[in-house]
Amino acid sequence: MIKISQKIDHPLEHSTECLILPCVEVKKPEGLLKEIDGKLEGAIGEAIDLKRFAGKSGQTLLLNSKGAVKASNLLLVGVGKSKEATPEKICQAAATAAKLAEQSKFKSVSADLSVFEAITKGKSGLFSELAGSVAEGTGLALYHFDNYKSKEDKDDPPSRIEKLTLLIPSKSRQASTEKAIARAEKIINAVHTARDLVSHPGNTATPTYLADHAKKMARKNKITCKVLGKKEMEKLGMGSLLGVSRGSDEPPALIVLEYNGAGKKKAPSVIVGKGVTFDTGGISLKPSAGMDEMKMDMSGAATTLATLQLVASLKIKANVVGIVAAAENMPSGSAIKPGDILKSMSGKTIEVLNTDAEGRLVLADALTYAQRYKPKEVIDLATLTGAVLHALGHHAAAVIGNNPAMIQKLKDAGDATGERVWELPLWEEHEKATKSDIADLKNIASPGVGAGTIMGAAFLKAFAGEQPWTHIDIAGTAWGFDRPYTGKGASGFGVRLLLSYLEKSR
Ligand code: BES
Ligand code: ZN
Ligand code: ZN
Repeated sequence: MIKISQKIDHPLEHSTECLILPCVEVKKPEGLLKEIDGKLEGAIGEAIDLKRFAGKSGQTLLLNSKGAVKASNLLLVGVGKSKEATPEKICQAAATAAKLAEQSKFKSVSADLSVFEAITKGKSGLFSELAGSVAEGTGLALYHFDNYKSKEDKDDPPSRIEKLTLLIPSKSRQASTEKAIARAEKIINAVHTARDLVSHPGNTATPTYLADHAKKMARKNKITCKVLGKKEMEKLGMGSLLGVSRGSDEPPALIVLEYNGAGKKKAPSVIVGKGVTFDTGGISLKPSAGMDEMKMDMSGAATTLATLQLVASLKIKANVVGIVAAAENMPSGSAIKPGDILKSMSGKTIEVLNTDAEGRLVLADALTYAQRYKPKEVIDLATLTGAVLHALGHHAAAVIGNNPAMIQKLKDAGDATGERVWELPLWEEHEKATKSDIADLKNIASPGVGAGTIMGAAFLKAFAGEQPWTHIDIAGTAWGFDRPYTGKGASGFGVRLLLSYLEKSR
């Protein structure tokens, strides 16, 4: 991870390889830009006249200063209209600038924050929040997963930005900027952890690997961690989760993490994550094209583990429990077959009509286990259905639940963090379509029912309990989420969303 620090300095007096200048929309250079433009013989004014730069959100302009100022290069990045410069917009602009700076082979960059003085006038606390967003966007954007490269590519050796310095205008901003940097570092760390867990292939990130990771993470953050193995699950009657894992040689794990930030008496928010470490589909085998991506089927688990790490490291004042249902879905002589009936921990029986609808099976028992905590609320995160990609693409996760106020709060958190969620309905008709002819439930609806994402949620509702509950289908956003601070592959979607949600709903 990059090193982030701050310095009181004037942007024109500051030596750096690359000075990033966030800019609001402009028609001609004003203020600091005008001053720099003068030194650069009108280069900025010319770019504006030629419509190459106007400070619009995400626009960039890279100029070599040719010694006219102390910084060797200037990188202007648009943040849009001053009024619309929200923390998320700034986070995105910083990410865009960071990626361009890294492509340009700079090793260290500085970002001038003096423009925020004008943007945040009269809004206390916003300056440091925006400072944090610059740090966050930069750190998130510079994620790399190269654990498995045994040597550097000679033709294209990696060039990495190692250092970000935030330039602040005065001493009065120092203490709050320091705090914002520390917070951003924890967020970056947690999101990177989630992305790492998802990026590891199935032969590394097994259920046992997730459990070991959870134990280590818990030790570091002073939270409690308990891992239930096959035997304990058998005792509890978790036939649904065990059914999924039966075809695999990898033992399953139910990982339980408890963070107490609000005293013992307060009912916790419980986060439940789908941890299918590889989803072949089982006997209802998936087609081979693109099957490798099903290593990401434990993204809900990764987000759950990373969120617990984050709330504990930030010491938020809430009680949060994380439950991960980890198993591998394989076809084999011992695998469950279409038509098999499983008995879940809740006592409800499930007719498995498609072994590829395994996420809801592992979650069923984890949701029942969650009831032990008499939770204030339950949120489950799962790469549950391919159908959510048809509904919302890579742009938002689907949310379905039993409590409109809770969903509204999640939507607000999504808008604030850019990790958007969109509600789908769950009606009686959907619930009826989960009833089996010979068992209590069936894991897929009859052909023609459609509404794949909703049907997944309708099944989960039978195990979610009466307290507020929301299911988040992240099959479209955990992988290939389209934001400047994410890249190809794993996004870590949900970590920033849940932090924002949990901090606001205290
Ligand atoms: N893990 C998949 C869902 C998925 C699909 C995640 C694409 C990420 C990208 C899930 O277990 C699954 O296979 N769901 C089936 C359900 C169907 C059998 C009812 C699906 O979506 O096709
Ligand atoms: Zn599946
Ligand atoms: Zn799956």
